Amino acid sequence: MRVILLGPPGCGKGTQGNRIEQSYGFPRISTGDLLRAEVAAETLLGLKARTVMESGELVSDAIVVEMIRKRIFSPDCRKGYILDGFPRTIAQAESLAYMDGSRLEAAIDIRVDNDVLIKRLSARWVCSCGAVYNLKVKPPAEEGKCDVCGGSLLQRKDDDSGVIRGRLRVYRKQTEPLIVFYKKKGNYFFVDGEQGIESVFSSINYILKRLLQETGELRE
Ligand code: AP5
Ligand code: MG
Repeated sequence: MRVILLGPPGCGKGTQGNRIEQSYGFPRISTGDLLRAEVAAETLLGLKARTVMESGELVSDAIVVEMIRKRIFSPDCRKGYILDGFPRTIAQAESLAYMDGSRLEAAIDIRVDNDVLIKRLSARWVCSCGAVYNLKVKPPAEEGKCDVCGGSLLQRKDDDSGVIRGRLRVYRKQTEPLIVFYKKKGNYFFVDGEQGIESVFSSINYILKRLLQETGELRE
């Protein structure tokens, strides 16, 4: 199975991706996290991606498709994987279908309004291990320290208020057309992302369980 998490910046793709990973054991693959690791390691790719990411624009399709191609054929993805932040353009979605087309697929759109997204991103703190916190709704047990790995928490450079607005514009223009793409494929689902974190997960869990039961991959 492949779970694709669609939705604007701050809708909860990372939060729900981690939650699905815990419950289903499928690895979460975040192109944002992979790119940030390249930036931190100061690789050539990271140096190219850095300015683009800090400005809130999208990195080129060729770069992210190649990163995903390497990752999804790893042994831990054999039973399934969760895509967080990929695909983000029609060209990326077409490449994904071409590379790994035969999987049971659910594209889940986490819907949240812009004003809520802006508030959430302004209060977000993250860890390099992928854990995500929010000072208002999900603070770490100890200030500035990750509950999962004990690492130091930081705020992302692209969570600056001006850049957030730019990222939202980029999403509406370049990524939202994927809704129609997956509707046409018959794999599109949406959930109300303005509920609490556990309620959003229950809605996603319901969709995934039903799909797996319908196809006989999960029997209770
Ligand atoms: P990426 O890292 O993917 O960022 P994004 O899509 O902008 O999404 P975010 O990570 O900001 O938000 P999220 O939906 O994961 O929300 P989260 O769970 O953290 O990409 C960054 C950049 O990399 C892009 O701008 C681009 O430059 C580049 N890039 C990445 N992929 C690319 C691709 N495929 N193609 C080209 N370029 C690419 O939650 C947000 C906050 O809200 C947290 O504080 C959380 O605790 C809180 N929260 C979550 N759920 C809830 C809830 N239900 N109620 C209340 N608060 C909640
Ligand atoms: Mg994220």
